[in-house]
Amino acid sequence: MDKFKLPQRYIGNDKSVWVEYIQLALEHKPLNLGQGFPDFPPPDYITEALKTVCTSDNVLLHQYTRGFGHPRLVTALAQMYSQLIGKKIDPQTEILVTAGAYGALYSSILGHIEEGDEAIIIEPYFDCYEPMVRTAGGVPKFIPLRLKKSSGPISSGDWVLDPTELQNMFNAKTKLIIVNTPHNPLGKVFTKQELEMIADLCKKWNVLCISDEVYEWIVYKPYEHIRIATLPGMWERTITIGSAGKTFSVTGWKTGWAYGPANLIRNLQVVHQNSVYTCTTPIQEAIALGFEKEFPRLGQTDCYFVSLPKELEPKRNYMADFLREVGMNPTVPEGGYFMVADWTPLASKVDLNSEKDQYKDYRFTKWMTKNVGLQGIPVSAFYSDAHKHIAEDFVRYCFIKKDDNLKKACNILTKWKNQREGESTK
Ligand SMILES: Cc1ncc(COP(=O)(O)O)c(C=O)c1O
Repeated sequence: MDKFKLPQRYIGNDKSVWVEYIQLALEHKPLNLGQGFPDFPPPDYITEALKTVCTSDNVLLHQYTRGFGHPRLVTALAQMYSQLIGKKIDPQTEILVTAGAYGALYSSILGHIEEGDEAIIIEPYFDCYEPMVRTAGGVPKFIPLRLKKSSGPISSGDWVLDPTELQNMFNAKTKLIIVNTPHNPLGKVFTKQELEMIADLCKKWNVLCISDEVYEWIVYKPYEHIRIATLPGMWERTITIGSAGKTFSVTGWKTGWAYGPANLIRNLQVVHQNSVYTCTTPIQEAIALGFEKEFPRLGQTDCYFVSLPKELEPKRNYMADFLREVGMNPTVPEGGYFMVADWTPLASKVDLNSEKDQYKDYRFTKWMTKNVGLQGIPVSAFYSDAHKHIAEDFVRYCFIKKDDNLKKACNILTKWKNQREGESTK
């Protein structure tokens, strides 16, 4: 049977927190604030667009489209990003449409890493970066964002890179760095100064920057999303990644893209044409219609990309308040829709010994799912093995949820806290 064992390049990459925690949710049916997707409808016009596409007289919209991206969609993306980047983007050669941002990450990493190349990954990180680098034969080099504050309210801006530590990561073997802003899971929106520090090192060491910007539109005032590709000398060495799932609140549509200079995008196209080849036509057409609607009103109050963060901000504040109320210490995000919180002030109320996992945050989140009925994600899942201990005190919750469900989460935690207090005073 050895003949059919998992190929060596995947060994060690076979565990996934998502597979494990989705199963856990199916078994215990908690209120699930683990996975990152909205539980409310996407904007009407985007579902209407899909309806229109499905019933259109143009029957070809149900057939294969151009492999590197449906013409109407790459045209719409080129129009929008040309304006945002301040540089004319060629829809044919400088954009690739993929199966989710996931597919764009895969094509970017597999299309650039050679055996033995080093890839710098900033911790915590969206968990697929590491296995993609390893599968490509690369060597991931991890640098953690460090919490610079030990007391008082915490913002995602309090998680920072140490400049000397970052400088020391770069060497002649470094092929690329992956930057994620706004950040999952911390919600950090990298400042211009932080991005310049990264950009200067990329230029000094001739390193490629993969900029995962799937939450580009979900930024809370007064913070501002800066595209690293717009910094001087960075367009030439940056691949920027986006997601329709995050942009239009349709994560199940699983469509993403990468844009950058033609010589870099060419490598992604080769990976894509030899794996996925072409993405779904009707979904791409509907997303194109969505961008055509939003482009003329970019930055205005009726633009979904402006109204969504406005809608999410009170949800963020509500969650931060109730987490504090029950005794946790949340990191208030500047962007994205996740909140990381230090759960350890509640450690005495949890029977961690009843769970067998190595890391305390796994035990905490599993115990909470089974006994309290609220599911979060253990933050050590976003760290390399050597650094998982840094994150054991943290849980990640998602707040792009209906107010009703956030209220339920608040009630579950409050009831649990009161119950435990009642028991401890008996
Ligand atoms: C940081 C980050 N990058 C990429 C993705 C993948 O996006 P998609 O669903 O478009 O594949 C996600 C999804 O949660 C994410 O959080």
